[in-house]
Amino acid sequence: MPTGYAHFVYSYLDYSSNHTSNLVRLLFIILTHITPMNPGYEYPIVVEGLTRIFKTTRRSGIPDKVAVDNISFNVKKGEIFGLLGPNGAGKTTTIKVLATLLLPTSGKVEILSMDVVGGNEKAIRNRINLVSGGERGLYYRLTGRQNLKFFSNLYNIDKGKQNDLIKGLLETVKLTDAADLKVENYSRGMKQRMHIARALVNNPEILYLDEPTIGLDPEIARDVRSLIRELADAGTTIILTTHYMYEAEELCDRIMIISDGRSAGYGTVSELKALMPDTNVVEIVTSDDPHETVAELSKEHRFTHINTERVGGRYCTRIQMREVGDVISELDPRFSRYGIRKMGYDDPTLEDIYLSLVSSNEESAPVVNRHEH
Ligand SMILES: Nc1ncnc2c1ncn2[C@@H]1O[C@H](COP(=O)(O)OP(=O)(O)O)[C@@H](O)[C@H]1O
Ligand SMILES: [Mg+2]
Repeated sequence: MPTGYAHFVYSYLDYSSNHTSNLVRLLFIILTHITPMNPGYEYPIVVEGLTRIFKTTRRSGIPDKVAVDNISFNVKKGEIFGLLGPNGAGKTTTIKVLATLLLPTSGKVEILSMDVVGGNEKAIRNRINLVSGGERGLYYRLTGRQNLKFFSNLYNIDKGKQNDLIKGLLETVKLTDAADLKVENYSRGMKQRMHIARALVNNPEILYLDEPTIGLDPEIARDVRSLIRELADAGTTIILTTHYMYEAEELCDRIMIISDGRSAGYGTVSELKALMPDTNVVEIVTSDDPHETVAELSKEHRFTHINTERVGGRYCTRIQMREVGDVISELDPRFSRYGIRKMGYDDPTLEDIYLSLVSSNEESAPVVNRHEH
């Protein structure tokens, strides 16, 4: 026990007179302080200064790629932790190192108190699992139940326990009715739920989900998200990578935003928002596409980000700036020809913050993003 605790306990005893209740209190104090002494229990994932470089051959002339550059974070038990970043940011590389599929170049990674380097791979893999969005990896000619049987055998699950396990997994992912259909006949959402069931066969303490909703219809993606939430509520520690901001905002307890292999922000959604206290947003909804005005505004450096999305036949433009002044009356005439449906100040969303953080990481000029929904 650290001396600090001992001192605390003794001074506590000094102030109290009743010995029996002292003993109970002492036990209570010890029990409540035991967790920090076992960080592997409280933090199943600890990453310190992780770097991963992909070496190229000297002859190719292509420089080595630093895919992950000195990132540090930890994940609490039962937490949903989000790795958020654009394509090529280093999310999959990070997940692969944490799943013992890639070695780190430098830095320290401890999974369930075991170092990923030095012969612990098998012990770690028995207690974790990984789902990658859009992957194959299931046997399409077999039924859902047969797939789960196959993977139970791979993990050497006791034959006598397999039927109950598979029944439970099918219920968890709501595929009981489809259990005896061939996976090739499943919809995309059913396949993705089956991937998750496959990854739950070894009852993993940690589940890595790499873009689990990529390419799914919004409704089906919502089902997958509620399944992820249920798993975390049941105590599974989850790392989720995504480039969908709203998904991270909805699901993740804490987030690391990665840009070009580096951390651009780490914390809860509100902590991330607090990193950019001077982010003000004006939102303008128009009937027509305001791209000409948006192109003009994006040349002005006082507007740090401009982002137009097409939502339900309308155009929603969000303009970020540090100083607001009387900007609304200035913007109004510039957007009026597109048919303004709505215009006003808005609180920054995670997406706004993300755009600020990623671009301040890259130190670039204003970013104009366009999305089609
Ligand atoms: N095996 C590899 N060899 C060389 N470069 C790679 C390899 N895997 C990934 N990279 C590069 O590392 C960077 C990060 O990739 P990745 O981790 O897949 O990003 P993300 O999952 O965030 O899209 C990218 O620039 C990618 O091209
Ligand atoms: Mg990826």
